Amino acid sequence: MSDWFAGARLGMFIHWGHCSTRGLELSWPLVGGNQALPRCQDLPVADYQSTATTFCPQPGSPRIWLEAAKRAGMRYAVFTTRHHDGFSMFDTKLSDFSVARGPYGGDIVREFVEATRAAGLKVGFYYSLSDWHHPDYPAFTDASRPYRFGTESKPTEEQWARYLEYVFGQVRELLTSYGKIDVIWFDGGWERTGAMWRSLELEKMIRELQPGILINDRLPGCGDYDTPEQFVPALPPARAWETCLTMNESWGYNPSDTDEKSSHDLIHTICEVASRGGNLLLNVGPTGDGSLPPNQVERLDAITRWMRRNGDAILDTTPGLEPWQFDGPTTRKGDRIFLHVLARPYESVKVRNIPVRRVKAVRAVGTDTPLEHRARCAVLDTLFKANPMGELTIRVPASVIDEFATVIELTMEPEA
Ligand code: GLC
Repeated sequence: MSDWFAGARLGMFIHWGHCSTRGLELSWPLVGGNQALPRCQDLPVADYQSTATTFCPQPGSPRIWLEAAKRAGMRYAVFTTRHHDGFSMFDTKLSDFSVARGPYGGDIVREFVEATRAAGLKVGFYYSLSDWHHPDYPAFTDASRPYRFGTESKPTEEQWARYLEYVFGQVRELLTSYGKIDVIWFDGGWERTGAMWRSLELEKMIRELQPGILINDRLPGCGDYDTPEQFVPALPPARAWETCLTMNESWGYNPSDTDEKSSHDLIHTICEVASRGGNLLLNVGPTGDGSLPPNQVERLDAITRWMRRNGDAILDTTPGLEPWQFDGPTTRKGDRIFLHVLARPYESVKVRNIPVRRVKAVRAVGTDTPLEHRARCAVLDTLFKANPMGELTIRVPASVIDEFATVIELTMEPEA
């Protein structure tokens, strides 16, 4: 696992397509939606795809998103180079169905890569294996609605061979035209088996073209890390992992979806994910012109404010204590333990089963205020043990309460 990913903790997912012009969810409206996307629209195929020929965002939009990502402390970004609707957001030589052949005429993936590097973040490409537009996939038609998992129409052998050549070719384009790429984030693989995708062969090609790249777990049978979607696992998965999460219930810009998570909720999720050693890939859906909608900006701003004060307790940390030791998420960095206080304390909080004599300092991170604290151990342990394990009670005055989540830092004396 690449070192940068292990401590990254926060990344930006960007779902953008021609359909964003009309505020439609990406791809799914053309097949009539699916139950995991309650706010998804339902449109005939041609109607959904009609904005492919008019999509003309403001040049330079990726700079806006990536500057916001950097301000929020994010370490990487993943962009939809091609979603299930088949519209390439880059200048592919293998299809005319791309942003480069429309009125915009540019290469948005290139703009994304340049903006991401300029912001100092790692570069990730989302790429859908499935393509509901490509004739050899074969394309989805209105006659196939409603979409049902497991009942997709299957290609002939010749069609599939041509389609795979297309996928391998596009992945090669993406991994040879833009310099070093840090993540390839597959999706849409569920409609075919790993054998049909020739996953292992594709993986081999990817690693030859981009040594050091990370591959997510959605190329069936391959991958370096898990991607629980819209969910934070209660216990850390066995290997590296990342939760991808929307701010409302849609991936693309969808103004009719007002089912939004609050800034508190998102910040608490950042703490929980970090405490289990994962990364949060937080989604934004720019509008058709490329700007970020105000509700998303407001949430990114809240995260930025909070991360400025408390980011030290998130970035480059490892999981902290056992869940029963503190009533909330915890992280760690060397000799420092961070307690993430996600509810307002009545008066104090407790940390259990720590070597209390080694506690050197306790402070509220956001306001840099030392906090009063008191230790308690079993009496005989205090008499006979040099380093008894005990309980620490920390007073948390109202003056140090953070508007979103209060972080308390314990600095421990290194073990003798
Ligand atoms: C799902 C959806 C897709 C979305 C992705 C992000 O697989 O099909 O629309 O891009 O999740 O994780």
